[in-house]
Amino acid sequence: MTHSKFRIRPTATSRLGEVDLSDIPFGRLYSDHMLSVDCSDGEWGVPEIGPFSNFSLHPATSVFHYAQAIFEGMKAYRADDGVPVLFRSRENWRRMNRSAHRMVMTPVPEDLFLDGIRELVRLDRGWIPDNATGALYIRPFLFATDPYIGVHPSKDYKFCIFTAPVGPYYTKPVTLYVTRRWIRAAPGGIGEAKAAGNYSASLYGMQEAEAHGCDQVLWLDAIEHRFIEECGTMNMMFVIGGRVITPPLGGTILPGVTRDSAIRLFREQLDVEVEERPISLEEVVACHEEGTLEECFGVGTAAIVSRVARLTGDGVEVNLPEECPLQDRLRDTITDIRLCRAPDPYGWVERLD
Ligand code: COI
Repeated sequence: MTHSKFRIRPTATSRLGEVDLSDIPFGRLYSDHMLSVDCSDGEWGVPEIGPFSNFSLHPATSVFHYAQAIFEGMKAYRADDGVPVLFRSRENWRRMNRSAHRMVMTPVPEDLFLDGIRELVRLDRGWIPDNATGALYIRPFLFATDPYIGVHPSKDYKFCIFTAPVGPYYTKPVTLYVTRRWIRAAPGGIGEAKAAGNYSASLYGMQEAEAHGCDQVLWLDAIEHRFIEECGTMNMMFVIGGRVITPPLGGTILPGVTRDSAIRLFREQLDVEVEERPISLEEVVACHEEGTLEECFGVGTAAIVSRVARLTGDGVEVNLPEECPLQDRLRDTITDIRLCRAPDPYGWVERLD
């Protein structure tokens, strides 16, 4: 089968019948098809959508050595009437190309990215879970493929998209580990790019967090180790005295699409004030002690809206209340828009009828 732009080779043996989509962990199960296309010296080949399969790559392929690799994370949902829907996917395309620019990689054309996702989701629509917290996670990624071990931007790249039925990334409230020892990203670095290197940079701290019974690190700024940045899988939000406070985008944290959606929904739909400003750990602890810290949560595509139950480490011990009215309202509002249960005031949802 050939679409005008894509060569489509459907699988002869779908694995869909073998899986139970009502109970799925995050990131272990992949659907039937993937998109893959090579780009050489800025010239894109014909993208192929075919059965999910392995790559065969030269051992000197530069991504293995110098990590010129970026990715995106987004989700397709099933609306109540059964139609697959995408949420703000153009924002992911934009961010992917900002990451590509920062990592000196060839940008991905808009129609390749967006039409590729549409084709893939239509083809694997049976893999979208039915429940409100499940979704088909979409993972576009671009990596350097020059078989060359000189340190230099690659001339050749591979762009791929696969999808994975998922439940929420965190299945229970999260405990965050406070450390002033490790950092995720520094000013002038690549912290705001969705680059693979930011995630490998987080692993050592994460390992320490897990050894202390925590789920993730609460990353602090690289200079003073005082200001809250993000937590690697999600952007952070605090509710203090009825207002939402979230760290500003200053180049070291990921500009989350869910973060942006949450800020707009709080301000424009839920009548809640949002301050995008530096927030220090001392402020959070002081507010906790005086009783004005009401909620803490993370927002992200994979994490959705995840309650933070506790901050612990480096002399800090903050236990957060179980009652979380603002994050519950945000979660419900965003879910209702995504599943087409409520009006979509910003045109964020695209139905793939
Ligand atoms: C996402 O929310 O899509 C992310 O990319 C986080 C991920 C690393 C699990």
